[in-house]
Amino acid sequence: MILQTEKFVFRELNGEASGHDWWHIYRVTKITKTIAQQENANLFICEMGALLHDIADEKLNSNEAEGIEKVREWLIHVNVDETSISSIIEIISTMSFKGGGGPPMKTLEGKIVQDADRLDAMGAIGIARTFAFSGAKNQIIHDPNIKPREHVTKEEYRTGKTTAINHFYEKLLKLKELMNTDYGKKLAETKHQYMEEYLEVFFKEWEGE
Ligand code: ADP
Ligand code: NI
Repeated sequence: MILQTEKFVFRELNGEASGHDWWHIYRVTKITKTIAQQENANLFICEMGALLHDIADEKLNSNEAEGIEKVREWLIHVNVDETSISSIIEIISTMSFKGGGGPPMKTLEGKIVQDADRLDAMGAIGIARTFAFSGAKNQIIHDPNIKPREHVTKEEYRTGKTTAINHFYEKLLKLKELMNTDYGKKLAETKHQYMEEYLEVFFKEWEGE
């Protein structure tokens, strides 16, 4: 079931350039498995949740409900049992960040997949994804006249009307505090530290130092 699902997700997401490509799923699935082992969670639910977490995204479907339906049909198609289907669907329908953070995840498995997704938005990879997303939205790197703002409206967030550097303040630097699991928190700490160091060097270089 997992192998078939990997192939399905690869077909759906291959070549997506806004940071939601197959390799994002590959990394999130790997971090998910690492955390799941540490937290003694249900590995099957975690792995399937991680693989499918972006398939229902609004960016890939006309609306979220249609995306969720696509995932449900897929799970039935590969013979996943009803209880597991409910758990997996519950995870992917509640976890998106959407600029403001949704309701807390109900299950341990959901908490783990959400942590893994957030961890992939942090650190060296998170920085790369931020600049890739910015480029795709014609957003500039930085403007010293734009003061760092923690709050960006849903519309500004959706349309990418902020700078790449501002994205650190509106999202990346907040993620550490949002981690659900102990192991996720530990991983987030290192990545957070790295982003702080990156910004320090960035601003120095900006002024020619
Ligand atoms: P996810 O739900 O996987 O966190 P998003 O769709 O919110 O993904 O974003 C995809 C990637 O692009 C993430 O790494 C995110 O931090 C980055 N990103 C999202 N919005 C912006 C933005 N306005 N400016 C720069 N990067 C962004
Ligand atoms: Ni994701």
